[in-house]
Amino acid sequence: MHITPLNHEFVGEVSAIDISVPLTPAQVAEIEAGMDRFAVLVFPDQPLTDDEQCTYSRNFGELEATLIGQMSKPSERRLGPVEIGDISNLDASGKLRDRDDNRRMYALGNRLWHSDASFRTTGAGYSLLSARVVPGHGGDTGFADMRAAYDALDETTKTEIEDLITEHSIAFSRGVLGFDNYGEGNADKVRPVRHRLVRTHPVTGRKSLYLSAHIGAIVGWPVPEARAFIRDLTEHATQPQFTYAHRWRVNDLVMWDNRTTMHRATRFRDLSEVRDLHRTSIKGTGMTAEQVHSMVAG
Ligand code: OGA
Ligand code: MN
Repeated sequence: MHITPLNHEFVGEVSAIDISVPLTPAQVAEIEAGMDRFAVLVFPDQPLTDDEQCTYSRNFGELEATLIGQMSKPSERRLGPVEIGDISNLDASGKLRDRDDNRRMYALGNRLWHSDASFRTTGAGYSLLSARVVPGHGGDTGFADMRAAYDALDETTKTEIEDLITEHSIAFSRGVLGFDNYGEGNADKVRPVRHRLVRTHPVTGRKSLYLSAHIGAIVGWPVPEARAFIRDLTEHATQPQFTYAHRWRVNDLVMWDNRTTMHRATRFRDLSEVRDLHRTSIKGTGMTAEQVHSMVAG
């Protein structure tokens, strides 16, 4: 297996490996080391079935179900297992969704810079997206390196934010776009959870900004001041020098570390062109709100 840096120092392209078959522990360790050094790995030309994608993903931890998968009835699902996130513009029967389709409008939240599942107490570890059908124009996925963004802050800001705790909720990111229709019985799924704003990677000890469109508050701060500050930080962290845009090819598998990056979808003609990606995500371990920095820093 070879990893070649791709455009930026936080994205690597992996070749000379077949991830559709069981991997050896040494291969898994090599991929994890690659994820620690970079934060996004692109595996071109890896046709995968959903089962193969789940098997490959389980090398890195326990799979979690997407929130929208959990909130949908089985009859509304196009793909089988709840561990496979349906990142497409298709409905359960495989037709393009209408412009005002509720599920389509919910999914437009992916266009805001975010970290997957940051609205859950443990967030997500890696996410993995496998491209099955890609549009002719647009629909790239942007990634931003939150380690480099943290490093580039001035010392005063680093000190000021070191111990800040933020509140994340899916209701906040969707609210920004004017979406609030979650359906009955889902109120408990949109309650805010707390995370540190600065987190430390458990293996590398590197600090990064834990930003996400799901943040709606900073504990102890007036809400408008918190939101304005989170906007400033997000603007800083998504400057071109910290970002990479992935132009999808069919059978690309891209995996990223949600602990050290943000990502977002970009616009395409989703009322006339199909875009079908399948996502798996690894459950986060440990609550960032309880992380003790001195353990790694000291
Ligand atoms: C996701 C996501 C972005 C995209 O699958 O978690 O945010 O480009 N996708 O579809
Ligand atoms: Mn996402």
